[in-house]
Amino acid sequence: MTWLKPVQIDADAQAAYNEFLRDLEARLADPATDRNVLAREVLAQAMYGREYGQLLADAPLAALNLDARNVTFEAEYYLATDAERFARVKPLLWLWKNLDLTPVGQNPVTGIPTRRLLAGHIFRRVGRDFKCWQNVEFSVGYNMEVGDNVVVHRHVLLDDIGGIELHDYASLSDYVNVYSHTHSVLDGPDVTLRKTVIGRGARITYHSTVLAGSVVSDDAMLATHALLRGDIPPHGIAMGLPARVTRFKDRPRPEAYVVDSRTYPHDAGRKANPAFPDPTPNQSRLPGEGDL
Ligand SMILES: CC(C)(COP(=O)(O)OP(=O)(O)OC[C@H]1O[C@@H](n2cnc3c(N)ncnc32)[C@H](O)[C@@H]1OP(=O)(O)O)[C@@H](O)C(=O)NCCC(=O)NCCS
Repeated sequence: MTWLKPVQIDADAQAAYNEFLRDLEARLADPATDRNVLAREVLAQAMYGREYGQLLADAPLAALNLDARNVTFEAEYYLATDAERFARVKPLLWLWKNLDLTPVGQNPVTGIPTRRLLAGHIFRRVGRDFKCWQNVEFSVGYNMEVGDNVVVHRHVLLDDIGGIELHDYASLSDYVNVYSHTHSVLDGPDVTLRKTVIGRGARITYHSTVLAGSVVSDDAMLATHALLRGDIPPHGIAMGLPARVTRFKDRPRPEAYVVDSRTYPHDAGRKANPAFPDPTPNQSRLPGEGDL
C-alpha cells in the first residue's frame, strides 16, 4: 500500500514533457547517438535555452563545461575505476547531475522519469518503476544493481565503486550514504572494495550511513543517523553508532528470503591499489563479517 497520492499538472505542460521524454528515450536507444553530444545539447537547452553551437559562440566557458569530455569526475582519479566503462556512462552522469541544477531536474514530473531513463543506460541493471528524487550522487554508476520499485530520496550518496545492490522495494531516505570502498587505517592509499547489499523491502532511513560490505537483509531497517558497519538480519531494526539490532519487526515471516545476511554470499573484498596486493596484518576488522 502506498501513502502517496496522485498529483496532476497542466495537460499542455505534461504533453510537452512527454514529448521531451520520448525524444530522449529514442536518442538514448539509438546506438548511433553520441552521448557527449546528446548530453551537451539537452543541457544547453535546459540551462541556457539555446542550441549548444549558439551557446558556444555566445558564452564559451558555459558551453565547454556542458560537454563531459571537457570535465573530470572524482571517479576518474581512482585506480579502481574502469576507464572504458566509465567513459560510456560519464556523459549521462554529467547530464543527470546538471539537470538536477535546473527546474527540469528539481521538478519531479520531469526529473523522476528522466532519471529513470538515464539509469537504464548507466546502471548494470535497473528494474521497473525506479523512483529517484533529486541531488543523488554516484561514484561510477555502472556498478549499481537495482531491482523493481526501488526508491532513492534526496541528497543520497551511492558510492558504487565496489558495487551496490538495491533489491526490490528497497528504500533509501534523504541524506543516506551507502559506501562500497574503505581505506586501511594504516595507509590511506590501501583501498578495499566490497559490494554492499540492501535487501528486498529494506529501509535505510534518513541521515544514516552504511559502510562497505554490509548486508542489510529483507525487511530490515536502519534507524535515522545510524552507522552500519556489519549486517542486519531479516526484519531487524538497527540503531545507533555503531548500529546494533535492538528489536525485530513483528510480522509473518516469508518462506524464503531474497537477502538473508546469515546466508547471503558476502563479497570477500578486493584491493583496488596494486601497491597493496595483500591484506595488511593489522588491518581492523572489515564490516559484513557477521550480524550485529
Ligand atoms: C527506527 C525508528 C523508527 C525507531 O522509532 P520508534 O520505534 O518510534 O522508537 P522509540 O522512539 O519508541 O524509541 C525506542 C528506543 O529506541 C531509541 N531510538 C529510537 N530511534 C533511535 C535512533 N534513530 N537512534 C538511536 N536510538 C534510537 C530511543 O531512544 C528509545 O530508547 P529507550 O528505550 O532506551 O528509551 C526511528 O528511529 C527512525 O529511524 N525513524 C525513521 C523514520 C523513517 O521511516 N524514515 C524514512 C522515511 S522516508
